[in-house]
Amino acid sequence: MDFMENKRKSNFTRKIILAASITALFFFMVKRPAAINGSTKFSQHEAGVTHVLVTGGAGYIGSHAVLRLLKDSYRITILDNLSRGNMGAVKVLQGLYPEPGRLQFVYADLGDAEAVDKIFERNAFDAVMHFAAVAYVGESTAEPLRYYHNITSNTLLLVKAMAKHGVKTLIYSSTCATYGEPEKMPITETTPQVPINPYGKAKKMAEDIILDFSKTSNMAVMILRYFNVIGSDPEGRLGEAPRPELREQGRISGACFDAARGIIPGLKIRGTDYKTPDGTCVRDYIDVTDLIDAHVKALAHAKPGKVGIYNVGTGKGSSVKEFVAACKTATGVDIKVDFLSRRPGDYAEVYSDPSKINNELNWTARFTNLEESLSIAWRWQKEHLNGYDN
Ligand SMILES: NC(=O)c1ccc[n+]([C@@H]2O[C@H](COP(=O)([O-])OP(=O)(O)OC[C@H]3O[C@@H](n4cnc5c(N)ncnc54)[C@H](O)[C@@H]3O)[C@@H](O)[C@H]2O)c1
Repeated sequence: MDFMENKRKSNFTRKIILAASITALFFFMVKRPAAINGSTKFSQHEAGVTHVLVTGGAGYIGSHAVLRLLKDSYRITILDNLSRGNMGAVKVLQGLYPEPGRLQFVYADLGDAEAVDKIFERNAFDAVMHFAAVAYVGESTAEPLRYYHNITSNTLLLVKAMAKHGVKTLIYSSTCATYGEPEKMPITETTPQVPINPYGKAKKMAEDIILDFSKTSNMAVMILRYFNVIGSDPEGRLGEAPRPELREQGRISGACFDAARGIIPGLKIRGTDYKTPDGTCVRDYIDVTDLIDAHVKALAHAKPGKVGIYNVGTGKGSSVKEFVAACKTATGVDIKVDFLSRRPGDYAEVYSDPSKINNELNWTARFTNLEESLSIAWRWQKEHLNGYDN
């Protein structure tokens, strides 16, 4: 009896131990980063391969950056919450570079610190290009807290994650809106930054966070202050497709194409009494292909413990009236134009002095030409009447 009882007990104990071991193994496998599971190339550093985390890579500029980086043999992880970007753009990129270890998409919100921490834990990033942001001046004056949260606070979280996980190179998307309305043109990198709307202020604060952190670390930092971005991939694979509900907030090129397609009745030029040659605002337009080239050069020149701050513009301003004329030529449509009063938060004249980036990064705008850049973008727009949903 005793013997049978003992045998039953020991069988029972064995079963318990087996069940506990299987459960423990299961938790171990689920909880371990992908590297331990051995499933992805993204989780391990590889000699000769630079793995770049591109935040906002489903957006307009971010997707063009990913395209170029993939072409140049970088390994890419896109992090995007798709609040404003397009899964269609990611699918185009995945279709072009389907090989394992080239491109992965991670759906996440940068404001979710826990999720971001896990993403850094599971992936071996060498550098970050931080594009993700809400980015409309008008919207920022109406919803300032959203802008400080999305731009400033999220950048802080991202930099913290980079510091914790030892990722030492950051290329940051900043903007000429951080300069506000300087008295002297052209704008150099030492022009005082006095932003006049929450968008510019939030970006300036994010820059300050990055710069202060860089003083206490050996992070390689490149801050690129873009002027007004236009155009799209010359080969027609990607384009600019903001959410329809953002049309009102939108940028001038989007409005111009919408007017040419008859989606909106015409163009509204806000402000004709600025102190500029024709009374309309003057802006420095930069083609997205040139802009991304500046990022690639910035990444190549990034050095531990060093900070580089660069304006990315052509150095030549064009008025809104000139822009509209170029848009009419590019689209072949005689767009109706209404002249309205000024929009709050806008400034009269903004153009860059690009000599620092010319000299130090050997970068110059080679593709930017108002008519040509708009013609290329218009071709994509005509072929994608529903954006990426086509
Ligand atoms: N477009 C311009 O003319 C211009 C000029 C100067 C600076 N910039 C800067 O360039 C960057 C990219 O701008 P864009 O024109 O491509 O804008 P976009 O809206 O097309 O792309 C931004 C991307 O970021 C994503 N995103 C936003 N918040 C996020 C969050 N919390 N978590 C994860 N993803 C998030 C969006 O879904 C979107 O895909 C922005 O930082 C913007 O401030 C743009």
